[in-house]
Amino acid sequence: MVDLVALSGAHTIGLAKCNFVTARLYNNSASSFAPPFATVLKQGCPPISDNKVSLDFTMPLTLDNVYYQNVLASKGLLVSDQSLLNSTASKDLVENFAMDNSLFLQQFTKSMIKLGNITPAIGSTGEVRTNCRKKN
Ligand code: HEM
Repeated sequence: MVDLVALSGAHTIGLAKCNFVTARLYNNSASSFAPPFATVLKQGCPPISDNKVSLDFTMPLTLDNVYYQNVLASKGLLVSDQSLLNSTASKDLVENFAMDNSLFLQQFTKSMIKLGNITPAIGSTGEVRTNCRKKN
């Protein structure tokens, strides 16, 4: 769980395609954005567009814990970002990282090293997907 929440913190930098947000942005879904954030987001993502927007609108170029503060303020860009509040265990981690940038950076470093050491399952044990969302 701690790795999942810490690695999600990578969404503190970089861009995402608008197609990951338009459904949530233009439908009245239960997981809607904070209203002021939705207004800003609609400027970057018109209903039909190939645009990209910052994963972290507040501090898009800095590797920091502002991503977690955004999530707590309903300003997470992706469903996966806001979903971190859906379990007590992940929500507690979001709150701890939001309060303590050093804690986040230390855990992010550990989790990235762990991720880098994963040996991919290939050959008869698995496959490297050409599309992450489905089996080849
Ligand atoms: C090293 C860590 C990570 C990096 C560098 C990263 C980076 C990114 C980037 C750049 C995008 C935008 C992709 C695009 O617009 O085409 C994205 C999308 C996404 N990320 Fe991450 N991410 C990381 C970790 C995670 C984790 C841990 C989760 C899940 C908890 C996650 C869930 C997602 C989801 C659901 C999307 C939307 C794209 C889709 O649904 O296929 N990411 N990520």
